[in-house]
Amino acid sequence: MGEGLQPRAVGPRIAAIVPAAGRGERLGGGTPKALRALGGRPMLVRSIEALRRAESVTQIVVAAPPTLVEVVAQLLGRDVRVIAGGAERVDSVRRALRAVDDDISVVLVHDAARPLTPSSLVDAVAAAVLAGHPAVIPVLGLTDTVKEVGPDGRVIRTPPRDGLRAVQTPQGFRRDVLAAAYALKDIPVTDDAGLAEALGVPVMTVPGAQEAFKVTQPHDLVLAEALLARCAPGDAPAGADSRGGTDSHGGLDVRGGSDVRSPG
Ligand code: CTP
Ligand code: MG
Repeated sequence: MGEGLQPRAVGPRIAAIVPAAGRGERLGGGTPKALRALGGRPMLVRSIEALRRAESVTQIVVAAPPTLVEVVAQLLGRDVRVIAGGAERVDSVRRALRAVDDDISVVLVHDAARPLTPSSLVDAVAAAVLAGHPAVIPVLGLTDTVKEVGPDGRVIRTPPRDGLRAVQTPQGFRRDVLAAAYALKDIPVTDDAGLAEALGVPVMTVPGAQEAFKVTQPHDLVLAEALLARCAPGDAPAGADSRGGTDSHGGLDVRGGSDVRSPG
């Protein structure tokens, strides 16, 4: 289960908030996505381990499916605070933000569904916030051309690809900025930085990482399994983890026992 977060005597206190309360409708399979197995261990466990390995992170708060708070707390160990997530991702992040310690000055928001994110990316985002940027996002250039398409299926325009970026997590914020962003109501955004933009806060980019892709569709899980098999052949194979509570693939078998609310 890893060594746990190491308390730091000096330096800024940085929390990582992990929204993990989604159902994973697009992935399918019946188990909440964060608890689906990847290379023999739940995806959420892998995401948390990357945060533990990051030197910058001093507190971790997880928003779990409401019916699975105890299960997830047992799974992750005592150095992680687990709270009940909400109906939409924004609700889960808002609730987790309330559970962050008072002395935290920087907050990273990181999807549980990005289990192969390198710790170096976590530290790079934190470092950019500490360097003075109030909001920081990791981004990658696009390989596909993107079109804006109308409801009738007709192309409206083709934005120049050079200026477009795909956005990942962790996204990092000064705590006061994220709190103000999440105090906004009914802003239709698809990432946390979108709320900071709505506040008029400048958002800085840092280079993202290919491995930080989000597991969304079944194809993403196949890719993640293949990457794990290639990069870490000694990493716990399916079924090798002897901890209790896992199914034959190392995921948590919670089918049937869950009445988790609708995902975002
Ligand atoms: N999330 C959350 N609370 C919600 C919805 C989503 O904490 N009510 C989390 C997910 O657990 C995931 C992250 O937000 O770690 C990104 O969301 P997404 O990839 O959309 O995951 P799901 O909502 O679970 O998937 P789907 O939309 O396919 O149901
Ligand atoms: Mg979702």
